[in-house]
Amino acid sequence: MALRLGDTAPDFEADTTEGHINFHEWSGDSWIVLFSHPADFTPVCTTELGETARLRAEFDKRNTKVIVVSVDSVDDHKVWSGDIQETQGCAVNFPIIGDTDRKVSELYDMIHPGEGDTSTVRSVFLIDPNKKVRMTLTYPKSAGRNFAEILRVIDSIQLTDGYKVATPVNWTDGEDVIIVPTLSDEDAKTHFPDGWTTLKPYLRVTKQPNK
Ligand code: BEZ
Repeated sequence: MALRLGDTAPDFEADTTEGHINFHEWSGDSWIVLFSHPADFTPVCTTELGETARLRAEFDKRNTKVIVVSVDSVDDHKVWSGDIQETQGCAVNFPIIGDTDRKVSELYDMIHPGEGDTSTVRSVFLIDPNKKVRMTLTYPKSAGRNFAEILRVIDSIQLTDGYKVATPVNWTDGEDVIIVPTLSDEDAKTHFPDGWTTLKPYLRVTKQPNK
């Protein structure tokens, strides 16, 4: 069955381009972005992994490690990494799992019947330091993902874990946020001493509290 938000991310052992890992041990106290790509030596995936490598400092800032999986071998991943560096101008700086036996892909339900072959779709799992699944995305093979959106949702989840707020449409870090509707105006005074704007009783906008 597909993993749901709040489920424990399944643990596994795997060979990667950075050696053999136990997933939960490797994750440690970090947030994790685990994502699949359909195959090595393919054009869209090449751009996605190049962009992920370029964003390394952004993931680090968010205490987030990236790990990638496909059903190709570690040897193929290593050769392809050279192509990524050459064409995308950035060396791969995260492990890529060699999942030739599809153990990880099947554990995370990344191979979709009807999608033409035995390769993975473009799945993304955001996993918190307690190993809980906090966000999932599934894109078809034809559509490269937007990694700015992945960073944006990490910002939102990390913020809303600490404060009684939610983030509105297209929000990015530093913009105004919404006070959760379950908080009464009376209690909101304690949490948001600088106040808020009430557009509707259920729509109260305030400055991002940790800025
Ligand atoms: C790609 O990464 O370019 C790709 C992979 C599988 C199917 C279509 C495109």
